[in-house]
Amino acid sequence: MMAHDLTTLKLEVENLPQTVPVGRVIGVEGGQIQISGLSDKAEIGDRLVLQRGSGEHLSGEVLRIASETVHMLPDAAPDGVALDNPVFLYRVPAFAPSNRWIGRVIDPFGQPLDDKPLSRGPIPRPVFAAPPRAGLRRPMGQRLPTGLAVLNTVLPIVAGQRVGLFAGSGVGKSRLLAGLAKGMHADVVVLALIGERGREVNDFVHRVLGPDGMKRAVVVAATSDQSALVRRRCAGAAMAVAEHFRDLGQNVLFLADSVTRFAEAHREIASAMGESPSLRGYPPSVTPQITSLCERAGPGGPSQGDITAVFSVLVAGSDMDEPVADILRGVLDGHVVLSREIAERGRFPAIDVARSVSRSLPNAANESENRIIAEVRKHLGSYEQSEVMIRAGLYTEGSDPVLDAAVRLWPDLDAFFARSDHSDAADIRGSFDRLTLVLRRAGISIL
Ligand SMILES: Nc1ncnc2c1ncn2[C@@H]1O[C@H](COP(=O)(O)OP(=O)(O)OP(=O)(O)O)[C@@H](O)[C@H]1O
Ligand SMILES: [Mg+2]
Repeated sequence: MMAHDLTTLKLEVENLPQTVPVGRVIGVEGGQIQISGLSDKAEIGDRLVLQRGSGEHLSGEVLRIASETVHMLPDAAPDGVALDNPVFLYRVPAFAPSNRWIGRVIDPFGQPLDDKPLSRGPIPRPVFAAPPRAGLRRPMGQRLPTGLAVLNTVLPIVAGQRVGLFAGSGVGKSRLLAGLAKGMHADVVVLALIGERGREVNDFVHRVLGPDGMKRAVVVAATSDQSALVRRRCAGAAMAVAEHFRDLGQNVLFLADSVTRFAEAHREIASAMGESPSLRGYPPSVTPQITSLCERAGPGGPSQGDITAVFSVLVAGSDMDEPVADILRGVLDGHVVLSREIAERGRFPAIDVARSVSRSLPNAANESENRIIAEVRKHLGSYEQSEVMIRAGLYTEGSDPVLDAAVRLWPDLDAFFARSDHSDAADIRGSFDRLTLVLRRAGISIL
């Protein structure tokens, strides 16, 4: 047996509970269950298993501890719970990510969700860790080939960049993330699937990602039927997995779907703890929750890898000012907006380039590439400003040379934005060459 296996086994044995403390239900109020007899033994975050009179179990988590009472937030509705029901206290096993988690689907406690045995790594990691000190971090790194022409060129993503993916429901967020998981340059991909339906997680892993996508991926999932505490933990646990690989010097791509569900889980917990909402239904504490999650991603320190991150956000309609979107835009290094109108006409990824921004520019591109990007944006802006007129047949060639060129450019540019490009290092250059050709065909020359 290798030394690594022995250390892991030792950790497993140390984590086995010696005895299980038992308390009793003394009240059920506002969705929380009050328990006596555990106050001096429980810690915030410990797991509780309640046994109903019928013999059925109800699990949950320690949310609050008072001198005589422990408050449990159950994972499901407390139907059938009665006074004096016994409640067993379990310490959560240490969360210790392992290199062997690659290719696996796990829950936020490090337990396998794919019915195969899973060993823990040798070093436990905090699920809610502090971000690394800013002074110890490298600046953002090189441009990464993404597998998509649009992200290789006008909206580049560099190593250690944190990007938001904003869209309404069903516009293609998850499919775009899956595309990046399969095609973007990275050593390891960590996916946090937060608050999806159970069926969707299976579908995503087996059909959308497929065996190819899973080859270098770790999926951490908490489904919508799990308690808010478990859903919120999912994002932190997935980030701890990413940090494990980053500390080993690997370049990690972290994909979270979605931060909105993470924020909603936090809202439920905060409301159960009595915090009142202030930010259009969200409690004030949602801001530090989101920002510290995002800050944990980014460039690593000396001898570490980077965590490049894409966080999806559900925006109702095109309300980019709703609280979660607003908080995220402030902390991220760019945002990619998906448009329902573009998706409805069948162009995927439905990225609305004019409304999307990468803050790694202009540094991420060289001078001539920046000129290409500027030409694309200028003509795209001109086309979109006059789009209604053009569609109504009111546009006549010859009145505005920029608009004339934009009209010629539009069909090829739209097709270019839908293009998948292979993600090897030479490919960014290749994507720019193809974009230059598209511009030339419309009579736009780049000096
Ligand atoms: N690249 C693509 N190619 C073809 N169809 C796509 C693509 N991306 C999205 N779609 C279509 O859009 C639908 C919704 O995509 P997806 O599930 O990724 O959206 P979503 O924004 O994650 O939705 P939700 O808000 O429900 O999570 C897909 O079922 C598919 O029909
Ligand atoms: Mg989705």
